[in-house]
Amino acid sequence: MTDEQFPDAPPPEMFRAEYWDERFSAPERIWSGNPNVALVAEAADLAPGRALEVGSGEGDDARWLAEQGWEVTATDISAVALEKASARIAEQSPAAAERITWWRTDVSGWEPPAGAFDLVTSHYLPLRPEQRAGVFAGMAAAVAPGGTLLLVSHALRDLENGMPLPPWPEMFPTLEELAALVPEDHWETVTLEERPRPAVYGGTEYTIHDVILRARRRA
Ligand SMILES: C[S@@+](CC[C@H](N)C(=O)[O-])C[C@H]1O[C@@H](n2cnc3c(N)ncnc32)[C@H](O)[C@@H]1O
Repeated sequence: MTDEQFPDAPPPEMFRAEYWDERFSAPERIWSGNPNVALVAEAADLAPGRALEVGSGEGDDARWLAEQGWEVTATDISAVALEKASARIAEQSPAAAERITWWRTDVSGWEPPAGAFDLVTSHYLPLRPEQRAGVFAGMAAAVAPGGTLLLVSHALRDLENGMPLPPWPEMFPTLEELAALVPEDHWETVTLEERPRPAVYGGTEYTIHDVILRARRRA
């Protein structure tokens, strides 16, 4: 996210396609062009198969997964994001682009196909608290036996260190909330932690934390 001024509560338009279309319409890139650190750390040791990414944004996680050999379904609420990401990656990394299917969907009203993916992942997906459990449960259900669920979010504690994150505690999933998605009888939890990493926003360096759930569905 950028160092914009934030209202007191999440504005309803933030959960609509138009908000994201407008953000992605800006000529300059929003993010770094690199895949997310937590994705690379957690997915590098997985055998490639079929991956579903929810909230693919500028597409660099999808690109990285495809470069590792994954067949990727990259979904986003923003048609502008999808168009820009697919055009850029087709130019930058044509072989990877052939492995990516871009799919416009609002995940809050969509249930991914059950058991269809060897990896289901999202990074920093903004969800209303009341919809989050249902969306994450749908994503978990889309993981095939033996496959991996990887959910990454910002951490509530980073609001305290001055980083310009949206200041709404209810938008931050907790480790306890994520743990409840992967009961032990059906899942092996591989990673469940808040992991620090360096980040630069507006020229200032911060140490921020990723809230990471990585779990393997028992076969
Ligand atoms: C903070 S950005 C993160 C983008 C990317 N995952 C990354 O880490 O660079 C959130 C992304 O989720 C998408 N998004 C927001 N609400 C969504 C929804 N309900 N369904 C699908 N995608 C959504 C936005 O368009 C945006 O691309």
